[in-house]
Amino acid sequence: MIPPEEFRRVLGHFASGVTVITACDKDGRPTGLTASAFTSVSLEPPLILVCVDHKAQSYPALSASKVFAVNILGLEQEAVSRRFATTKIDNKFDGVPFTLSPLGLPLIDNALAQLECAIVNVHLEGDHTIFVGRVERSYAGDGLPLVYYRGRYDRLSGPMP
Ligand SMILES: Cc1cc2nc3c(=O)[nH]c(=O)nc-3n(C[C@H](O)[C@H](O)[C@H](O)COP(=O)(O)O)c2cc1C
Repeated sequence: MIPPEEFRRVLGHFASGVTVITACDKDGRPTGLTASAFTSVSLEPPLILVCVDHKAQSYPALSASKVFAVNILGLEQEAVSRRFATTKIDNKFDGVPFTLSPLGLPLIDNALAQLECAIVNVHLEGDHTIFVGRVERSYAGDGLPLVYYRGRYDRLSGPMP
């Protein structure tokens, strides 16, 4: 078995987009965390998954919720990503414009795309939980994605010639 530092270093070579996973806690307070462990699972029905660390402050709220949103961040939203990747901020939404959806989910304004999901399954795996969500509503806009690669924020350099 490889050590965690090596695992993190090697996995960093897989370039990804950046999402913020959001939900409301039992008192209706919006919460969320930055996550790149997001992928599509099934086309029919439309399923996606996200993996969330059990140590995340927002984990109990996500566990207790029946729904969550995936906000796919645009290139201009690095500061939002950094904020939602910082634990122990009392209200991560302070200064971050968002809209409450009809499903009661905090959607971050100007995100490149948004998916509103009903939780259909959870799988405990190691120190993370996999939340499988059925996509109930979705939105996609124009613009470039924020990219994360080898531990740094990055951007697409354009299509191959
Ligand atoms: C680019 C990036 C991707 C991340 N991806 C994940 C992820 O997929 N799952 C996860 O649990 N944490 C991920 N993290 C770490 C969390 O965002 C971080 O632990 C955060 O503090 C959790 O917030 P919370 O403790 O307030 O809930 C990522 C961080 C960054 C910067």
